[in-house]
Amino acid sequence: MKGIILAGGTGTRLYPLTKSISKQMLPVYDKPMIYYPLSVLMLAGIREILIISTPRDIAGFLSLLGNGQKLGIKLEYAIQEEPNGLAEAFTIGESFIGDSPVALVLGDNVFYGSDFGNRVKESAELTKGCTIFGCHVADPRAYGVVEVDEDMNIVSIEEKPEHPKSSYAVPGLYFFDNQVVEIAKNVKPSERGEKEITAVIEEYLRKGEVNVNLMGRGLAWLDTGTHEALLEASNFVEAIQKRQGLYVACIEEIAFRRGYISHAQLLELAEPLIKTDYGKYLVDIASEKMLQTKI
Ligand code: G1P
Repeated sequence: MKGIILAGGTGTRLYPLTKSISKQMLPVYDKPMIYYPLSVLMLAGIREILIISTPRDIAGFLSLLGNGQKLGIKLEYAIQEEPNGLAEAFTIGESFIGDSPVALVLGDNVFYGSDFGNRVKESAELTKGCTIFGCHVADPRAYGVVEVDEDMNIVSIEEKPEHPKSSYAVPGLYFFDNQVVEIAKNVKPSERGEKEITAVIEEYLRKGEVNVNLMGRGLAWLDTGTHEALLEASNFVEAIQKRQGLYVACIEEIAFRRGYISHAQLLELAEPLIKTDYGKYLVDIASEKMLQTKI
């Protein structure tokens, strides 16, 4: 399975913060936002990843993450000229995807939960159809919303409905088989002028090939779309990290624990960060103080 991180958009709801830098580069507590979705793909065991961003912002991501070699993964980059919608990720990424299945994660989605790593790893084993998630939220109107029957089969999916048929919002993490490329090519822009991911999923729904994973209370899916939500996400990550002494979305730790990099490589990554708690945490991990901890 390959992976795509879509880190585009204009971020106007976060102005003036995003007037000159990408939303997905803003801090969520102690690391850039894009570390969080990148960690999700890495936890899923995906090592070939395409980062898609705007003509203005792509260079920033390249300078932050490079070609991924230091993390034992392969990163490529592509540009989305205009914010034409999520489904465009698959046409922009067509040659990168090739004949592989592909996961898409949105660059501004933050997840945290017990056993989340295993869940996404299982999802990445998909060979047919698509897997999406449903998260219970107080107000789903700003999201894609799934309706399910008593047997937890998906009945419908709607993008930003005024009258949602359920409280289950679809977070920005999706796993697709290779049909997605052709399906995405045929998606027409919605009323808001975007090629919606929901339209792609509806096509899979017509074929009876959507698997929906409803997440219980054990998964936190955080919003970063407003100043308030961004601060709350930072506070959440700070609280977890301070209390547990375990970091959220620490891409270097995941690379090490997944066996992509050695002790020596981890220490090398820690070096420039050594003035921070983040860097010290990496050193602790390399010194095997926390070897027993599962990710
Ligand atoms: C997009 C999707 C929506 C999904 C959301 C998750 O919304 O269109 O279905 O629920 O991401 O973050 P947008 O960010 O374009 O408003």
